[in-house]
Amino acid sequence: MPLLRAFLLEDTHMTAHPPRIAQIIDGNDLSRQLRIEVTQRAAALRAKGHTPGLAVVLVGDNQASQVYVRNKVKACHESGLHSVLEQYPATMTEGELLARVEVLNNDPTIHGILVQLPLPAHIDAQKVIEAISPAKDVDGFHVASAGALMVGQPGFWPCTPYGCMKMLESIGYDLRGKHAVVIGRSNIVGKPMALMLLAKNATVTVCHSATKDLKTQTLQADVIVAAVGKRNVLTADMVKPGAVVIDVGMNRNDEGKLCGDVDFAGVSQVAGYITPVPGGVGPMTITMLLVNTIEAAEREAQARGLA
Ligand code: GUN
Repeated sequence: MPLLRAFLLEDTHMTAHPPRIAQIIDGNDLSRQLRIEVTQRAAALRAKGHTPGLAVVLVGDNQASQVYVRNKVKACHESGLHSVLEQYPATMTEGELLARVEVLNNDPTIHGILVQLPLPAHIDAQKVIEAISPAKDVDGFHVASAGALMVGQPGFWPCTPYGCMKMLESIGYDLRGKHAVVIGRSNIVGKPMALMLLAKNATVTVCHSATKDLKTQTLQADVIVAAVGKRNVLTADMVKPGAVVIDVGMNRNDEGKLCGDVDFAGVSQVAGYITPVPGGVGPMTITMLLVNTIEAAEREAQARGLA
């Protein structure tokens, strides 16, 4: 034993950074595994003459959105889903967009509709989301989808928190009776995340910009989901040893490199598990979009007596 300890101390002194304790939950790796299943389900549908299809609608020239939608369309093709990308200028009116959504609602080759956010300021995003048929709402943003999640009925779950749940599942984590702290209360991540964790019997605390003492909350957490959109929201001193840390953030550091909401270098020396940025939640979001689109196509096939 003294020998082992001497070795460990020496090892710590010899490395430039203290050793990382946390195990990485690799979103790329998990995505690859899940996409194999998506590809098989897509092939089974195609064999019945029912190719699953996703329509992605982008309005305006937001650079980040352009990258996101291209990645979504590429992922569809790689898994054997049909996809269409509709791009419109920022001058498109709300009425024109609503009309496009209606056409897609009635298009039998399209099973999922995604209107990329943010939309230009003159368009009411919620109104557009509510115009999407709930049966094709693969983003899970429609009020009917939010309601279904709230009461535990079948519907579409928003892709990012759904991906986070898959990451917890991948490490065999049992949430029953665990304390989960969600930082952020957006309709897209924080709120649905809290409901999903609750459905798995976790005790859930939702923290936000008006929370008085964030550290007191996070120090009690077995699971922390950081979804704020701000660097270093979670640092090592705020994390209980062994906790599971999921980082939803997508920010740029001073060198312009992609980083999350979590101080990865520090927190990974305290946490039991941690998701990296990039290569964590990001790829999982697109994977769950594919899963939802397949699910939508399978439900439609079933309704048409093809399944
Ligand atoms: N903008 C940023 N993330 C998303 C997303 O998951 N879906 C849509 N529709 N827009 C987004």
